[in-house]
Amino acid sequence: MPIRVLFVCLGNICRSPMAESVFRHLVEQEGLDKRVSIDSAGTGSWHAGSPPHPETQQELIRNGIDVGPGRARQVTREDLTHFDYVVAMDSSNLQDLQDLYDRTPDAASTLSRLLDHARTSTHVDVPDPYYEGGFDYVFELVVDGCQGLLTSIVAEHQLVP
Ligand code: 4NP
Repeated sequence: MPIRVLFVCLGNICRSPMAESVFRHLVEQEGLDKRVSIDSAGTGSWHAGSPPHPETQQELIRNGIDVGPGRARQVTREDLTHFDYVVAMDSSNLQDLQDLYDRTPDAASTLSRLLDHARTSTHVDVPDPYYEGGFDYVFELVVDGCQGLLTSIVAEHQLVP
């Protein structure tokens, strides 16, 4: 069984699809793509069915990372039983996930914030770029968090290619 990782933000069009693509890129670089499966979702449903935000796509492409075919969807209670790691982009997303977790009797996922795993950044939240912009800075934070997350998952599960 692969290790299952779900990235979650508010709309599932800016931050979490960026993290999904970056994490998949790192996992593929390590030759671990058969060992880890990756998805993303939003706590809200407004953008369900939409592709990643154009600036998320642009930032990924600029950095040589595949955008992928994923479309936005809302997180479900089943996600909290299915995924081993559910990784929130900010503290508000984490609180919403915790509320859903508390209402899901068989929930078993480990919840965290992406930047809990960061190695260099001292931020706790990936800022929401939807209104404020700053997708390039969001990308830097996402890479930092994804590298740290992969390192801990590899160590915890003693993953080898
Ligand atoms: P995301 O950004 O949570 O990083 O996908 C947002 C996208 C859409 C909205 C808010 C944040 N919105 O309010 O529609």
